[in-house]
Amino acid sequence: MQNRLRITVLCENTVGPVSGTLGEHGFAALLEGEGLSILFDTGMGETLLGNALRMNKSLHRVARVVLSHGHFDHTGGLLPLLRNCGGKDVYAHPGVFSRRYRVKDNGESIPIGIPYDEHFLRGMGARFDLDHRFREIARGVFLTGEVPRRTPFELGDRGMFRDANGSEADRLEDDQSLVIKTAKGLVLLFGCCHAGVVNTIEHAREKTGEERVYALVGGTHLGFSSAEQTEATLRALRGFGIGRIAAGHCTGFAASARLLREFPGGFQPANVGYVLETE
Ligand SMILES: [Fe+2]
Ligand SMILES: [Fe+2]
Repeated sequence: MQNRLRITVLCENTVGPVSGTLGEHGFAALLEGEGLSILFDTGMGETLLGNALRMNKSLHRVARVVLSHGHFDHTGGLLPLLRNCGGKDVYAHPGVFSRRYRVKDNGESIPIGIPYDEHFLRGMGARFDLDHRFREIARGVFLTGEVPRRTPFELGDRGMFRDANGSEADRLEDDQSLVIKTAKGLVLLFGCCHAGVVNTIEHAREKTGEERVYALVGGTHLGFSSAEQTEATLRALRGFGIGRIAAGHCTGFAASARLLREFPGGFQPANVGYVLETE
């Protein structure tokens, strides 16, 4: 159990309450607790160091880095981090180095995988700890590992592929989230949550044995999913009795507006500078 916990969004698409920070397409958040400093994702690489400096967050002190999945907008900051702040233990799924592409309707394909080679990153000081299983990485802090896809409605983003031609769909099996056990219930930190918000919550509850879900923070990918998926997700979320939802990154404006309407008082955008604190 983590009692005093603070999550600070360091990289996100939009700047929030802290002047002098910058936005970029990506996500990164710093998790701080008693004797704990974990960086969850690293953004695209353009804003991590500057935003952390502006918010007086020392990335030198971060011993552990978690990569939620192998997209460039979550992993690109790893190189500037290693270059400037020294070697780190890096936790991820073994599939994090897979090749991946977004293939647009007009046939254009864009590589969107991790922009560095594994051996190069190891040479730069990344000590990779790759595992597909649920695991505890610090006291009361868990990585979901591969999330079973159970709900019929979380079909995700249909524009992502393992090849540039768009013939093999990318199921993003490496997508995982961070789960923190607190006195108020579980706090979930998402990267893009390609595995589905409800699938991820159910998996976290099952594995930790904690039923209560206190807060969700991060990307939900609802901005790239169907309206039917968003509505079904909202219906399921109501049943969990969640206290706080701070969504951003790939959530998009429409889904954020729906979440705000559904959870008035409980919803906030997880922009750069957003902070969640628990006692
Ligand atoms: Fe993303
Ligand atoms: Fe992603």
